[in-house]
Amino acid sequence: MARRVLVTGGAGYIGSHTVLQLLLEGFSVVVVDNLDNSSVVAVQRVAQLAGEFGKNLAFHRVIVVSCFVTRGAETGFWFDIRDKEALEKVFATSKFDAVIHFAGLKAVGESVQKPLIYYKNNIIGTITLLEVMAAHGCKKLVFSSSATVYGWPKDLPCTEESPLCAMNPYGRTKLMIEEICRDIHHADGDWKIMLLRYFNPVGAHPSGQIGEDPCGIPNNLMPLVQQVAVGRRPTLAVFGNDYSTKDGTGVRDYIHVVDLADGHIAALQKFFEDPNIGCEVYNLGTGKGTSVLEMMAAFEKASGKKIPLVMAGRRPGDAEILYACTVKAEKELSWKAKYGIEEMCRDQWNWAAKNPWGYRSPDPPN
Ligand code: NAD
Ligand code: UFG
Repeated sequence: MARRVLVTGGAGYIGSHTVLQLLLEGFSVVVVDNLDNSSVVAVQRVAQLAGEFGKNLAFHRVIVVSCFVTRGAETGFWFDIRDKEALEKVFATSKFDAVIHFAGLKAVGESVQKPLIYYKNNIIGTITLLEVMAAHGCKKLVFSSSATVYGWPKDLPCTEESPLCAMNPYGRTKLMIEEICRDIHHADGDWKIMLLRYFNPVGAHPSGQIGEDPCGIPNNLMPLVQQVAVGRRPTLAVFGNDYSTKDGTGVRDYIHVVDLADGHIAALQKFFEDPNIGCEVYNLGTGKGTSVLEMMAAFEKASGKKIPLVMAGRRPGDAEILYACTVKAEKELSWKAKYGIEEMCRDQWNWAAKNPWGYRSPDPPN
């Protein structure tokens, strides 16, 4: 029988790519998502891309309905992981072998402006999920942590043992959830938990059918770049060109979202293969640092589009350089990123060119 996995936030950017890889690997998948930052179209396209495996995907929007929402032309059923009763019903109808928990808010700037929304959504949502999992005897969790927990690291690359220091409420929710996970494992050794610290996920599925489509103004580099490339924005602001880096711009460890998705499969397999798993932490990155200007050059090459740049001041809270030590994941999960920035930019552009307005239609002119 296929192993069954609950994926919270499975309609989102990383979630949708991971759900596809799970289906292709033969898992049966149930997605819950409140569509706060995503579209039901992503889930539909994942089911199509999975071909015959698409039948093993369920999206919880009918059986458990919290309320019905309309956003623009799109309608969908809203499911919030903070709704304990609704989650209980999902667990009562299916037995899960594990949960992958992506659901959360992730805009750093917004978290500074509206910290309580972040603490409520990310922390309360996770606690509610953990309570329901425990009540139903499902104690295997993969959690989306982030390289943001390393703050502005003194020593590079970041290893899993590097000092932790969140610099904003979003980062603190990730740190707190990591601590909660360590505590519940300490209290009850039946819990098996993978804390995956993602570096900078970019790119899209090579089909160009699924990709990143944040609601509202994007916060991250590549969704903004792709909007410039398709003419939705005139320029890209480069946040700081006076860092102590090769060209003065910030350096990050960009990782292809399909590689990242595969990292989740590797983490899940480890649960089922290694009885000694406790509460483990792994960096998921490539181990390579790329500057903003290098990324722009790679994207321009891949797309044939010029990205007009405007040099702007440093963004508060940004680290100068961040990249991962990937040795632990390579050794213990037998996982290593396959793609470089050329493939990341190629697939980002393929998605953007095919879906200039993401999963939505452009707003009609006034
Ligand atoms: P995303 O916004 O595309 O996906 C998150 C999904 O969770 C969305 O579909 C959203 O609608 C859903 N969601 C949010 N709150 C919910 C709730 N209370 N109940 C149900 N659904 C809810 O973001 P993503 O980039 O796919 O990120 C997934 C996870 O990975 C997040 O936890 C994020 O913090 C983490 N992460 C992302 C990055 C990144 O750069 N993208 C880096 C490190 C960590
Ligand atoms: N940048 C610009 N202009 C922009 C946006 C970003 O120059 O318009 C620069 C940033 O200054 C940084 C780099 O591009 O040097 C990457 O910025 P992102 O906003 O894409 O990513 P961050 O590294 O700041 O943060 C992201 C996610 C976090 C996550 C972290 C993990 O937003 O949630 O990666 O490393 F925790």
